[in-house]
Amino acid sequence: MARPTSHYVCQQCGASHRKWTGRCDNCGAWNSVTEEAAAEAAPKGISGAGGRAVSFVPLEGMEDQQPRTTTGIGEFDRVCGGGMVAGSALLVGGDPGIGKSTLLLQAMAGLASTGTPVAYISGEEAVAQIRLRAARLGLAAAPVGLATATNVRDILATLDLPDAPKVVVIDSIQTMYVDTLDSAPGTVAQVRSSAQELIRFAKRRQLTLILVGHVTKEGTIAGPRVLEHMVDTVLYFESERGHQFRLLRAVKNRYGPTDEIGVFEMTGTGLIEVANPSELFLAGHRDNVNGTVVFAGIEGTRPVLVEIQALVSPTALGTARRAVVGWDSARLAMVLAVLQTRCGLNLGAADVYLNVAGGLRISEPAADLAVAAALISAHLGQLLPSRTVVFGEIGLGGEVRAVGQSDARLKEAMKLGFTTAIIPRSAPRRPDERASDAAIATHSMASLQDLFAIFDGALTGDQSAAL
Ligand code: TYD
Ligand code: MG
Repeated sequence: MARPTSHYVCQQCGASHRKWTGRCDNCGAWNSVTEEAAAEAAPKGISGAGGRAVSFVPLEGMEDQQPRTTTGIGEFDRVCGGGMVAGSALLVGGDPGIGKSTLLLQAMAGLASTGTPVAYISGEEAVAQIRLRAARLGLAAAPVGLATATNVRDILATLDLPDAPKVVVIDSIQTMYVDTLDSAPGTVAQVRSSAQELIRFAKRRQLTLILVGHVTKEGTIAGPRVLEHMVDTVLYFESERGHQFRLLRAVKNRYGPTDEIGVFEMTGTGLIEVANPSELFLAGHRDNVNGTVVFAGIEGTRPVLVEIQALVSPTALGTARRAVVGWDSARLAMVLAVLQTRCGLNLGAADVYLNVAGGLRISEPAADLAVAAALISAHLGQLLPSRTVVFGEIGLGGEVRAVGQSDARLKEAMKLGFTTAIIPRSAPRRPDERASDAAIATHSMASLQDLFAIFDGALTGDQSAAL
């Protein structure tokens, strides 16, 4: 039997198939399987002969602390974990047109002005286009080495020169190709090999490598997922539904915390950092509308206040609708079920709409209590006391559970002029928290029933733990 000379690779998930198929068995994508030249045959059984023994070392030992390079763009540096580490590879993913090239051009200009030699290699735009953008951003004078190239062999030869830059941006990895492979740029095989070559080189030469990756409509980086495990840091640049601001989110970081977000605003003259995102997310907040509640959340290491809006209306159809934007719909179903079973609040015949205003996506369970408060407020048509923030997790028994970093949440709320906080009763307290609590009245909740008491105006002394 003849050996297969090619195989079929899904361009969405990278799964390999023996023959062409209209739908990938692995990820279910349609029309994503294309033919690629066969990979080299796996080596046949290695018996250990001819290998070189590796030596084991103890866990303990001093490595030189890698210095971090900072770009001067605070939000970017923070998301990287306090600057980029030499010899590390970063992947910046995002939808086309979201502003990746703009962000990285600004970051490189910032780095260059501190004296670090940097290069920006584009495979997508012509030099003239990038110069035009630099002029518009007011960065034309920054000493950034600009080049257009798509052949990885040429790029490696350039970076091998003695005066090579220390930080290199490759915009984008989907345009790069390795000339030993037959497949077209942008295919899984090319993206994977190009990234591999570049990363290996960067590690050897202690370069900081930044790869730009476009995200396909399914939400994964094209040549997808194949890059995430190869790089040290994965940052996604995203925005919600036509909002002006952009979020830079760390989803993987070998050199820093994940879940960190950086907030930027896209303006006519480039991206501007938003140092206080709470003000942005609360813009337009009115606390005289029922169903709106301010949630004191934590994004990464930073407290962020956002408005949660609920609307409850009688259903016009047989089945009630539940529509959620910016939160988890399964979590909403759980909160609704707990409200019904433990508190007798039946919204089964009502449409429920839940929206996180401003376009942020919340994944913290700490938002449960704020969602419940918004639902109760919308259902009863009653308001919470004005200038109130809410946070706490809800258990299936209707109990309100403690969440982390309550001190930071309360401090942020006070900074923005909030005077009341609805928090879990069992919130861990440290002596230094008391100072911050003094200026904000806290109502601590042991269970969801306590929350109803606030709406009834029947708040008694023992439910109010104002210090
Ligand atoms: P770009 O950085 O090219 O996106 P990406 O590299 O992620 O594809 O950004 C393109 C968008 O940003 C484009 O729609 C125009 C907008 N933009 C501004 O609004 N202001 C600016 O100063 C710049 C440079 C771009
Ligand atoms: Mg671009």
